[in-house]
Amino acid sequence: MLIKPTIHVLVVANDIAVMQKCRELLLNEGHSIRTAESTEEALDIIRRHPADVDLMLLSLGLPNDGSMILIETLQKARREIVILTISEQCESEAVEAMRSGAYDCIQADFSPDWFLVKVHRAIEVFRLKRQLGVLRRERQAALTEVKHDENFLAILNSLTDGFVVTDWQTNIVLFNEKASRLFDLTKEKDHGRPVSSCIKSDDLLSFFMRAIRADDSLATLMSGEEPIIKAGGKTLRVHVDPVRNEAGTPIGAVALFHDVTKVTAMDKLRADFLSMVSHELKAPLSSLLMQISVVHDGLAGELTDKQRELLAKAKDKTKGMITLVNDLLDYRRIEEGKSIQRIESLDCSKILQRTIELMRPSARDKEVVINTQIASGLPPFSGDRGGMEAIFVNIISNAIKYTPKGGNIEISLNQAGRDIRFKVVDSGIGIPPGDLDRIFEKFYRIKTEQTRRISGSGLGLSIVKGIVDAHNGSIHVESKVGKGTTFIVSLPVGE
Ligand SMILES: Nc1ncnc2c1ncn2[C@@H]1O[C@H](COP(=O)(O)OP(=O)(O)OP(=O)(O)O)[C@@H](O)[C@H]1O
Ligand SMILES: [Mg+2]
Repeated sequence: MLIKPTIHVLVVANDIAVMQKCRELLLNEGHSIRTAESTEEALDIIRRHPADVDLMLLSLGLPNDGSMILIETLQKARREIVILTISEQCESEAVEAMRSGAYDCIQADFSPDWFLVKVHRAIEVFRLKRQLGVLRRERQAALTEVKHDENFLAILNSLTDGFVVTDWQTNIVLFNEKASRLFDLTKEKDHGRPVSSCIKSDDLLSFFMRAIRADDSLATLMSGEEPIIKAGGKTLRVHVDPVRNEAGTPIGAVALFHDVTKVTAMDKLRADFLSMVSHELKAPLSSLLMQISVVHDGLAGELTDKQRELLAKAKDKTKGMITLVNDLLDYRRIEEGKSIQRIESLDCSKILQRTIELMRPSARDKEVVINTQIASGLPPFSGDRGGMEAIFVNIISNAIKYTPKGGNIEISLNQAGRDIRFKVVDSGIGIPPGDLDRIFEKFYRIKTEQTRRISGSGLGLSIVKGIVDAHNGSIHVESKVGKGTTFIVSLPVGE
């Protein structure tokens, strides 16, 4: 940006000596000077040479309160002019002048050095103000020009995606035909209107604002799976980016909208089919497990060691399939936003105790000891019974799965302030620090030599997180590789 080196100074004073001193010092500095002896004269110069006043040195001794009138007039009409006042003492009148918009005060018996320090500072302020003004104008200019280019518009109209550009105040400056069909926009009605009043979506407005602020979180969001918004009765995948000028400053934002309404319907069909299949598999798998168990336990006749060994493997695999089917069903439920099916008043200690009893056999098989510390008389918790069971089962089954033979697991449930706190500490293989953030993602499993032989779908903790969130709770994990892992779930019991 080019900044004029010469600063135009208007000196307004009725004291000739002061006026002369100012003139001399300013001319020495290479600035251009105009002088006025009264308010009227000063206003006249500003009116006739509007581009020639950057800085005003104003004596506060003008008759009839003229100095204050001048400051107030300029504050209304020419805010970019920086005003430095000159006063005997720079006391109350100077303070009042600063309140009205003057930048600083110089005492009338100033030394040249003092004078120049103050003037230089005022010039810096003027330059900043001017840069700000230029930036503002550049922003507006850059984004109003595009709408006049017909060829450019023709190209945009050939896009199958909706395309909307806003200026830095999130007012719409450009859109293509697809966007106009998607959101019912017309040039006459919607140009210049805030995007939030034309396209109803809170998320979208926040994306535009983040783009204009050049907020890094938006870039991260857009580089992943792009967010989906619902607007105008459609499901749209949206990508928003800042529009930058040559200097790299964001001057607006541009959004592309890809209509995925139909794809989403297909996705739903696929997911429903998966749910249906999972559901249909659940009953036969459970009965298969029961029958294998009966044979394995010798209730259907004597078995050789080899036969028992093979059946134990078949039993394990069937259990794995049942867990997977349950996970898929739970996961669907959470994806559909139904992680809470029915809220009722629950006795969490009872649910936990029963869950632990169900899981003791698998711990015993692995020679892992479970110790419990379950407080009695906990306040009832308003939540979803199936959800609570899923939290307990998943965290405890992980502790059993990822703790080698001979290890132990401490399970506790107690009240901590306004929360019910469920804590599971195991002495297992632990979780590497780099994976701690990721274990709650769906299908995320840690791949190490130790976990290779342990089966699972990687859905368990994502299900737990979904249920905990739906109950306004929190989940926390600490772990040391080779030492063990602690999961803490806190659930608010309310008032
Ligand atoms: N207590 C634990 N100790 C060590 N690693 C654990 C523990 N709990 C979870 N993990 C790690 O986090 C990953 C994700 O756990 P999650 O429960 O989501 O999936 P999973 O146990 O692999 O499969 P499933 O869906 O059958 O639960 C696991 O694969 C495991 O690597
Ligand atoms: Mg698990």
